[in-house]
Amino acid sequence: MAFPLTRMRRLRRTPALRELVRETRLDAGDLVLPIFVEAALEAPQPIDAMPGVSRQPINGALSEAAECLALGIPAMLFFGIPPEKDAEGSGAWDPEGGVQQAISAIKAAHPDLVLIADCCLCEYTDHGHCGPLSDSREVDNDAALELLARTAVSQAAAGADVIAPSDMMDGRVGFIRAALDEAGYTEVAILAYSAKFASAFYGPFREAADGAPAFGDRRGYQMDPANLREAVREAELDLEEGADALMVKPAIPYLDVIRRIADQTGAPVAAYNVSGEYAMVKAAAAVGALDEQTAVLELLTSIRRAGADFVITYHAKDAARWLQKM
Ligand code: PBG
Repeated sequence: MAFPLTRMRRLRRTPALRELVRETRLDAGDLVLPIFVEAALEAPQPIDAMPGVSRQPINGALSEAAECLALGIPAMLFFGIPPEKDAEGSGAWDPEGGVQQAISAIKAAHPDLVLIADCCLCEYTDHGHCGPLSDSREVDNDAALELLARTAVSQAAAGADVIAPSDMMDGRVGFIRAALDEAGYTEVAILAYSAKFASAFYGPFREAADGAPAFGDRRGYQMDPANLREAVREAELDLEEGADALMVKPAIPYLDVIRRIADQTGAPVAAYNVSGEYAMVKAAAAVGALDEQTAVLELLTSIRRAGADFVITYHAKDAARWLQKM
């Protein structure tokens, strides 16, 4: 059945033919917009490392939410920048914290939007690590669990639909599930950052959220970029502990991990197209090295093709606008 009987180009001839045989679709409904909330701001404050992205005061977060709804983007992921930091990261569970305020304001104004709270301490600790430190200056896993659970409950109380722990402490999903249930939030879901790699691609985020570690790095708790089987184990453990959905992060350097976790677990899988992936495209587009729209839609489609059910991306609003016009 080879050439000349078979001609693969026949079904590529027109846009309509290509549309008919397209295997993967990208839709605004598959996108999540991350947002940085800093309640103390008077106006949005642009983030130099991430052109087009700003830290938002509460009213700015409200406008972003309205924009998401208008564009068909169903969900937002919240990060907070607190007025003050301390060794434990107590700003993370402040009922008056920026994330808590933004979530409750948006839930009241737009109850249909899915509000996902990133649950981590690194934006709130003065040392920038994802949990309290032990005497040996390592993150104390078990001490972090209690603080993460407190944070999750405060986010649920504010109106979060989904809690997304991004700290990579062992046992945090089960601990957070138990705390949510005990506080009566049995309907609040957990999206676990199961396979979160110790990645260079978080660079711009650390300026955006002011969460760079003051010393050392996160390789003692985030995953080694070389490991695929370990990522599957992390995903399976999170499911056993009660995770409702799993996340792989970053996205593009880890498409094989997305595919393997999607196939092997059958659970809903999210991929986080992180700040460094965003900044690379923006920088290349700014010097005319590639066409931004075509490149972004190709990248987001590739993440979906790899098996991600939804994609968390700073390109969400632009992509939704481009998809509307197609
Ligand atoms: C917090 C957290 C980070 C990101 C999401 N949650 C930073 C880190 O782990 O250093 C990165 C997101 C991005 O780069 O867009 N633990």
